[in-house]
Amino acid sequence: MEKDSGVKVLYENDEHRFLLLGWSEDSEEGAIQTNQYAIVDNDEAVLLDPGGVHVFPRVLANISEVVPVNKIKAIFYTHQDPDVSSGISLWLSSTDANVYISNLWVRFLPHFGVFNFSKVKGIEDKGGTFKFKSGRELKFIPAHFLHSVGNFILYDPNAKILFSGDIGASVFPKGERYVFVDDFQKHLKYIEGFHKRYMTSHEACKMFSEKMKKLDIEIMAPQHGALYKGDSVLKFFDWFEKIKCGVDILNEIWG
Ligand SMILES: [Fe+2]
Ligand SMILES: [Fe+2]
Repeated sequence: MEKDSGVKVLYENDEHRFLLLGWSEDSEEGAIQTNQYAIVDNDEAVLLDPGGVHVFPRVLANISEVVPVNKIKAIFYTHQDPDVSSGISLWLSSTDANVYISNLWVRFLPHFGVFNFSKVKGIEDKGGTFKFKSGRELKFIPAHFLHSVGNFILYDPNAKILFSGDIGASVFPKGERYVFVDDFQKHLKYIEGFHKRYMTSHEACKMFSEKMKKLDIEIMAPQHGALYKGDSVLKFFDWFEKIKCGVDILNEIWG
C-alpha cells in the first residue's frame, strides 16, 4: 500500500475525470479504511461518500488540489453509515453543494448536525440522476438492503465506472492493501466475511448482480479497500449473485 494519500486518476478525457481522492491514512487505528472519490466535469465537481469527521481535513485538502471548493456542486451519499456521511454538516458549511441521499435517511440527518434542509435532496426508492451543465448525467441506482435499507450506488456512463459503496468492500490486514484486484480468487478472503455479515439477503444480491451485469462497467470502485477492473468486475458479480448472507444465515449469526 502506498503511503501517500494523493489523488489518482481512474478516468480522464478533456472534459471529464473520475478521481480516487486518496486512501485513508494507515494510522487510523480502529477505524475502517475508506475511499473517497470525485467526478469532475469541466469546472463542476461531485463528491462520492466523502466520509466521516476524522477524514474531512484530508479529503478537503485532496479535492482542493483539483478544483476550488465552491465548484463542488453535489455530494452523493450511498447511505447513512458514519464512515460515509457523518462529516455532512462540515461539508454543508464549507461548500454550496446539494446533498443527495435516500429519502429514508433525510429525517435522521439532524443527528449528524444538519438542521437546514434547503440543500438536502432526498432520492426516491426507484433512483434518480444528477446532470452537469454539459448535459452529462450520473445515475443513482437502487441497491437497497445492500447493506442499508435505503441504499444507492452511482454509475458514471461517461467514465464507465460504478461507484458501489459497501458492495465489493474489502477489509485488509494492516499494510497489505493494494489498489486494484489482480487475482479475484486470492481477493476473496478479504471480502467474504464482510459481505456475509453486512449484506442482508441472497435475493437482494442476486437481483442486483443481474442488473449490474447488463451495465458497461470498466471499473467498480467500492468505499473500502481495492477496486475491480476488467475481468474482476464480472467475477465479483458471479460470486455476489450466489452468496448466502444476512437473513439467509441467521442460525450461524445468532448462534
Ligand atoms: Fe455501510
Ligand atoms: Fe462503508
